[in-house]
Amino acid sequence: MKIRDIRMLAIEGIAEAGSGHPGASFSAAEIMASLYFRKMRHDPSNPYWEDRDYFINSKAHSAPGFYATLALAGYFPVEEIKTLRKLGSRLQGHPVRYSPQQKEHSVPGTEYSGGSEGIGLSVSIGIALANKLDGKKSRVYTLIGDGESNEGQIWEAAMAAAKFRLEKLTAILDRNRIQQDGFTEDIMPLDPVRDKWAAFNWNVIEINGHKVEDIIDAINKANEVKDKPTIIIANTIKGNGIKHMTNNPQWHGKAPPRKHVALLLEELESECLIAPSIIAGQPQNYEEKVRMAERGGADMIHLDVMDGKFVPNISLFADTIGRLRHITNLPFDAHLMIERPLDHIQDYIDARCDIITVHVEACDENSLSQITDRLLLHGISPGIAINPATDFPEWLYGYLNKIDVIIVMSVNPGFAGQKFLPAVLPKMMLLNKELRKHGFKGYIEADGGIDSTTLQQVYSAGARILVAGSAVYATSDIHGAIIHLRHKANVALEKSLLDHADSLGIKSDWMKARKHILIPFSNELGIEEDIHAIK
Ligand code: DX5
Ligand code: ZN
Repeated sequence: MKIRDIRMLAIEGIAEAGSGHPGASFSAAEIMASLYFRKMRHDPSNPYWEDRDYFINSKAHSAPGFYATLALAGYFPVEEIKTLRKLGSRLQGHPVRYSPQQKEHSVPGTEYSGGSEGIGLSVSIGIALANKLDGKKSRVYTLIGDGESNEGQIWEAAMAAAKFRLEKLTAILDRNRIQQDGFTEDIMPLDPVRDKWAAFNWNVIEINGHKVEDIIDAINKANEVKDKPTIIIANTIKGNGIKHMTNNPQWHGKAPPRKHVALLLEELESECLIAPSIIAGQPQNYEEKVRMAERGGADMIHLDVMDGKFVPNISLFADTIGRLRHITNLPFDAHLMIERPLDHIQDYIDARCDIITVHVEACDENSLSQITDRLLLHGISPGIAINPATDFPEWLYGYLNKIDVIIVMSVNPGFAGQKFLPAVLPKMMLLNKELRKHGFKGYIEADGGIDSTTLQQVYSAGARILVAGSAVYATSDIHGAIIHLRHKANVALEKSLLDHADSLGIKSDWMKARKHILIPFSNELGIEEDIHAIK
């Protein structure tokens, strides 16, 4: 979904410019990605397409994230982000609506000139009314800020949109609770924000604005509503993605020093996802295991499908996954340990898995090519798994741009609760390097015997999706087990960043910027004295 890339491009642009708004770009990254890469009907090669959906970036200071999204969607070359805020650039600090007259100062895909807060919702109403008159199906999505909601014009627009029953208008509130000078609730309290919008006769949906699956679900629901506009209150974290920037008003509109950029990019690339495997532990009902993983803060659910032929064990199949799909929005990471996966792939597509991984030992090039095409057509991330004894085949390099996940098995597949095979570590490390060299942008997933010790080893070898079966479900405290694994991943990240900072000769500078994040890890990182010496 390119969410990482949005944040990475935005931070590169801001650091190069020496000014800009990282906080707001980061809080809205998942929202913009969900719209541009999943939900909106738009065509970068034809930005004026009559039947397009519209995105109005009313809180215009999220411009770096917005430009990054447009570039990644194909509206202009990604390298141009480095011209952000420069004289003569098309990427002005606050975006300018694209038109033949303005094409020197703007990029295709920009529908609205922003900067003065509070106006974008009114403009959206104009577009939605015109579309209604023209009998068009186009939808209008408008991103507004919570600081921006101090403007009276937002509430005038709220009344008008309800009056005109603009069901094709969806506002999304980036509820990060921080505005230019401080916390929104100190400056001008917005809560109870749900009740306010409901009182203005809008359909109100509240979600976690960093969960793509929740954003998409909310947009789908908004699209079904008749006679009313919808507001999605997206609870977000300002600066989300870079730990020392999160929830800190200082980073509303400040550029990081250029010398930190390599470290910031590393942090953005190092996002770790914890995926509990529900076949592990006591044979108890899967529904309960999924619910417990969600409550504990898991990032996705790992579903091991075993057919008794490819592996000497039978576990769950597509019908079970289909039943589980209704109880959570967490992404489903299906790992198919089956023979002839092409014959069965449709069942797993229909069960609405988000990632579907097949084994390279069970496919030839022709069937893998058909599988990836079919999955991509359905918006599902394709994955490929390789067993400990299997070498990465040459022909697979040709598919790296179509594959989002590569599972490097750290046990021989078939059973949960096996011992981690350390021989996999050098293989994973080498593969990671090779794959990146060949342009692989997806995730390496470690699967088998991952616990709090082995997690740090596979992390160092490049794995960023961490499957944990027994480490989560063979314990009595599932919630605690997930938190513990995440802590270990955080320690591994901080250690790697510190080593990187050291190699760049900016360790003390980095520790200063990062002090409040490093303190809880200082013991495990062996930097207790150094950190307390920093003023
Ligand atoms: C093995 C499976 C793994 C396994 C994970 O065939 O693919 O996902 O169940 O469980 P643990 O973490 O216990 O190895
Ligand atoms: Zn698995």
